[in-house]
Amino acid sequence: MACSPAQLLPQGAGVHALNQGCALPGAAVNAQSVTGNAYLSTTYSYFRSDLWRNFGVLIAFTILYILITIVATEIFSFTSSGGGALIFKRSQKAKKAVEHAGPADEETAGKAEDCRVSPERTESGDKGDGGALQEISDSERVFTFEDVCYSVPYQGGGKQLLNHVSGYAKPGIMVALMGASGAGKTTLLNTLAQRQSTGVVTGDMLVDGRPLNTEFQRATGFCEQMDLHDGTATIREAFEFSAILRQDRSVPRAEKIAYVDKIIELLELGEMQDTIISCLGVEQRKRLTIGVELAAKPSLLLFLDEPTSGLDSQSAYSIVRFLKKLATAGQAIVCTIHQPSSVLIAEFDMILALNPGGMCSSRVHVPNNFLCDIWYPHLCSLLSSSISFLLLMLTRLL
Ligand SMILES: Nc1ncnc2c1ncn2[C@@H]1O[C@H](COP(=O)(O)OP(=O)(O)OP(=O)(O)O)[C@@H](O)[C@H]1O
Ligand SMILES: [Mg+2]
Repeated sequence: MACSPAQLLPQGAGVHALNQGCALPGAAVNAQSVTGNAYLSTTYSYFRSDLWRNFGVLIAFTILYILITIVATEIFSFTSSGGGALIFKRSQKAKKAVEHAGPADEETAGKAEDCRVSPERTESGDKGDGGALQEISDSERVFTFEDVCYSVPYQGGGKQLLNHVSGYAKPGIMVALMGASGAGKTTLLNTLAQRQSTGVVTGDMLVDGRPLNTEFQRATGFCEQMDLHDGTATIREAFEFSAILRQDRSVPRAEKIAYVDKIIELLELGEMQDTIISCLGVEQRKRLTIGVELAAKPSLLLFLDEPTSGLDSQSAYSIVRFLKKLATAGQAIVCTIHQPSSVLIAEFDMILALNPGGMCSSRVHVPNNFLCDIWYPHLCSLLSSSISFLLLMLTRLL
């Protein structure tokens, strides 16, 4: 590198060029230029002899970075569940499904599907799965509970959470447990499902008029409000796990797997049966929770704690519609439900309302249109939900 005149020192009038030297680092005395090697070695301590050592260090850093990334992706989950792209497990079954999935040309595939799928779908949506539904439940047993009280030890004394609650559940009937937040809906559901481990439960709980036996818990399913699943399994694996471990040991394995196929078909999860659970959305997770319980073949009752919480109205309706289908097919269902719209309530056959303090305030058989028939018959056509009813009443009062 040649030194520019501005970098030559000393400067001034009468200074001879032979006495000037370059001010750049690495320059020799009185030199007018600096070699690249001298500049780099003086400024940055870079020597050509270190070239291969530095190259080795670069490679080592790259390998270390890749290793840290691999370990971190195994240990940490960087995405919150749901809402993202679906991840499918690479299994033989999935591969075969893709191979059989028709022509590779997307345009022709789209056209073919347009013509073919719609009539099939409408059929399977309403009538097609009727046969499969019939096989889901064939029990005729009735579950009754009378004067159920539940108290827990609380701050030195006792606290009564349920206060003489009575009701029943039978095949074909879908019961909604309603009440304000903290009224004791979850507590009642847990008590009825014999899942309370503390406190004192009194009252009668009978199946066909006989006391509960040890089989009761196996004959019931309980869908918790929080959808707790192993995020690394696929939907099918979760169903098969539940079916194989929880159905009776006398049932052959092939029959259990066939039952899982039926459940997958009913829940309309066929296309995503090989999806990893951790990437599922809220509604699909709810379906999965219900499916896992159904796979265990609960012959007596299905309890659900707030199956619609966290869902938008469309998803909530599709879940309740599915439950209604199950109930129509003969499954007894008891589920808590929080602030449902009138459309959702209309799907239920009976409402058990709880007051805060766990008192049973009313048991109503839901007529065709609950709100309209009970409260204000001539407003029927105007009402779409309880909120709109309240707004209407308020505007009339003001
Ligand atoms: N083990 C316990 N000890 C003391 N109090 C309890 C216990 N379990 C529940 N409770 C109380 O009982 C009441 C009813 O609780 P629960 O969870 O059944 O209400 P919920 O109707 O399901 O409410 P939400 O709609 O919010 O789910 C609450 O006030 C709660 O604080
Ligand atoms: Mg609750």
